[in-house]
Amino acid sequence: MHLRALHLLHQTTRGAFRRGLATAAPEAALKGPTGVVLLNMGGPSTLPEVHDFLYRLFADEDLMPLGKYQPTLAKFIAWRRTPKIAHHYAEIGGGSPIRKWSEYQAEEMCKILDRIAPATAPHVPYVAFRYAAPLTDDTFVKMQQDGIKRAVAFTQYPQYSCSTTGSSFNELAKIAERLDPEEEMKWSLIDRWPTHPGLAKAFAQNIQKTLDTYDPEVRDKVILLFSAHSLPMSVINRGDPYPQEVGSTVQAVMAQLGFRNPYRLVWQSQVGPVPWLGAQTADTVKSLVARGEKNMIIVPIAFTSDHIETLHELDLEIIGETGEPGIKRAESLNGSPVFIEALADIVKTHLQQDVVSSPQYQLRCPMCTSENCKTSRAHFLKQT
Ligand code: FES
Repeated sequence: MHLRALHLLHQTTRGAFRRGLATAAPEAALKGPTGVVLLNMGGPSTLPEVHDFLYRLFADEDLMPLGKYQPTLAKFIAWRRTPKIAHHYAEIGGGSPIRKWSEYQAEEMCKILDRIAPATAPHVPYVAFRYAAPLTDDTFVKMQQDGIKRAVAFTQYPQYSCSTTGSSFNELAKIAERLDPEEEMKWSLIDRWPTHPGLAKAFAQNIQKTLDTYDPEVRDKVILLFSAHSLPMSVINRGDPYPQEVGSTVQAVMAQLGFRNPYRLVWQSQVGPVPWLGAQTADTVKSLVARGEKNMIIVPIAFTSDHIETLHELDLEIIGETGEPGIKRAESLNGSPVFIEALADIVKTHLQQDVVSSPQYQLRCPMCTSENCKTSRAHFLKQT
């Protein structure tokens, strides 16, 4: 797809959002200060935090429903898995860098926003993680103490899944009901941004940088493997939009690169015996190597900063084990200035649109039976 066509697609989508949605209360929409909260799953910054991180992850019924004994099971699984996972974190330097990068991205994004969106300034940066510090509860209390009345919950998963963004919003709604029953803080949601041109450009730049390290003779033959976290097929079959949205990011990035290289979208981090979405990244690499392919770039397409799935699973386990110097990874977005400008543009546009969420957020998965999903949507939409 040409860049111009991609831009038009983006504009059309944005227009549809505006028409399809109830708008936020006008007096709340265009007045600062505006709290902008980057939401993510988070990761343990230090080894002693690993156990509690795992416990919260396995206790999340939106991520993996384990029935009425979930808290007990979560305690057991966290206890069993902590030594192995802590060892993995030790191998990548003693903790996840996701907090460092998220705080940096939030601060830099708000500096740009103050410049390009003066009507909603000052923009105050916050980070809220689902399973690690800074936890959403703590960030919420800090925002109340800071006197924030207008807040934007900005998911850092560019592609929406009920297991990730959906879970973070469900949690935020529960916390808001508990800590702010009078609804003094007005929230709106940026729930997905898979084809934003700045996101695609930032990915394309990092891929091109890696492509440039290959001999020009082979450069256009290097296989690009876009790798995203997999999901159990039970989640996909419920109607989760994630695979389609990840695919849309891949197409947008390939358009920026001119479709010069062969590519595939593959899926990583499968655990347990149930069926998951494939092809698996590790199996794909092994299979291509067995066919004689020696040049590949793995692109983490659903993460915006480094964490254990890039630094350990991709770098040490999958790429490291091949021993092939031509198999590399594109750098994560981390501190990319193009990426941070894209974040600011997404928030600016969202504030100007004056909407609570995208129309897609309001359509629950066709097979969803979760009360959490229902009540969180009711919570956010009653603010209109
Ligand atoms: Fe997707 Fe509930 S599981 S909306």
